[in-house]
Amino acid sequence: MDAFLIHGGKRLKGATQVSGSKNASLPLMAAALLADGPVVLHDVPHLSDIQNMARLLRELGCEVEHDENGTMRLEVVDEGNSHARYDVVRTMRASVCVLGPLLGKRGNVLFSMPGGCAIGDRPIDLHLRGMAGLGADVELEENGNIHTKAKRLRGSKMFLGGPFGSTVLGTINVMCAAALAEGTTVIEQAACEPEVADVADLLIKMGAHISGAGTPRMTIDGVKSLSGTEHRVIADRIEAGTLIMATAITNGDVKIENCPIDALAAAMDRLAAIGVSVDTVNGANPMRATVSVSSARRLEPVMVTTQPHPGFPTDLQAQLMALVTLADGNSIITEKIFPERFLHVAELSRMGAKLYRQGPTVMVSGVKRLIGAPVMASDLRASAGLVMAGLAAKGATKVNRVYHLDRGYEQLELKLQKLGADIERVSE
Ligand code: EPZ
Repeated sequence: MDAFLIHGGKRLKGATQVSGSKNASLPLMAAALLADGPVVLHDVPHLSDIQNMARLLRELGCEVEHDENGTMRLEVVDEGNSHARYDVVRTMRASVCVLGPLLGKRGNVLFSMPGGCAIGDRPIDLHLRGMAGLGADVELEENGNIHTKAKRLRGSKMFLGGPFGSTVLGTINVMCAAALAEGTTVIEQAACEPEVADVADLLIKMGAHISGAGTPRMTIDGVKSLSGTEHRVIADRIEAGTLIMATAITNGDVKIENCPIDALAAAMDRLAAIGVSVDTVNGANPMRATVSVSSARRLEPVMVTTQPHPGFPTDLQAQLMALVTLADGNSIITEKIFPERFLHVAELSRMGAKLYRQGPTVMVSGVKRLIGAPVMASDLRASAGLVMAGLAAKGATKVNRVYHLDRGYEQLELKLQKLGADIERVSE
């Protein structure tokens, strides 16, 4: 297994660019199952999650070619197999996003219950509520498979909110299935994440009738069929936020291109309060802006609570925590989406951070400096927080099990090396 060896203390300088969004690419790829012709996606990042999704789609009869420039061509050639097997699903929760397209297009899906993961349980009850709301039969069969089937889906009005608010992939699943259902579907408390709007844009190009994407109420008027099309994936707002915070924690000065600043309002609000400057150099397209990032020497402590979009994203919680370990005072971080998403707390403490957890809240008492240490990556975003801490720490940090990072960051160490970081990939 690979690890990152980091010698901290180098200020990040220079220019970098944000890759295409992983969390948009995965459901966009799955949505290709709805099309009667080829779908071409541009700017799909080269990540292990993307490879896993391609493997699953091939098993479901969809050809997938992904070239080195990030262009991906998908075409369904055989609709005979609609079973998403356990050994694929258990490696990646996002496999669930084939559920809606398969049910909408083929009317019959066998899907293995995903089970939990490092950041907590990953239930799919809201997804199944949505499928049932469209008239599908949903039953749990032996060996953990969910069998959903329907002769013809019928649109209806449904509420898709759960105890933690809206569901991103649940909203996308219902939107995809409803696109080929009979009649109109209205989703109340739909997720508002930019990735939902990006998949809606693809479906509309394919011929779907969708309004309200990106707002809490979406309306989908079903159509008979959907055609192939071409689409460019939005930039990855989480990678962008991570690169901004990595610059800030090293007190660096970096220009970032293809930055979806328009999708980062909550993060920008907190970063401004901390004392991080993110100046727009070219904002002609606020979803692909060029920004210049720098930070004050002294970082202010903040309060932050993760919320569904447009609130502060849970996927930036670990990175913000790493940043404020060096702030001048006490910060309070509350995780409302995945209350167990704190595997990075023990690891940051090994580097000298002062963190006090009470349930879904962590108090971060700022310290003057972090000290390098061997640490263990766990979930994708916690790993990014540990890399950031290593960039700022005195001495050497070894982040083990970086396969977690490879799931969601395209060659992160190369991007950081180009910005002057002393980081290299070594075998563990
Ligand atoms: C998406 O996951 C993202 N993944 C996650 O990013 C992200 O953390 C999450 O949205 C929240 O923003 C992809 O887009 C591939 P949810 P998703 O359904 O859609 C509960 C990363 O690091 N819930 O919005 O699976 C759930 O347990 C990943 O890139 C139910 O209770 O998340 C959670 O507490 C990690 N029942 C909350 O809702 C359900 O049926 C939000 O989950 C579904 C979800």
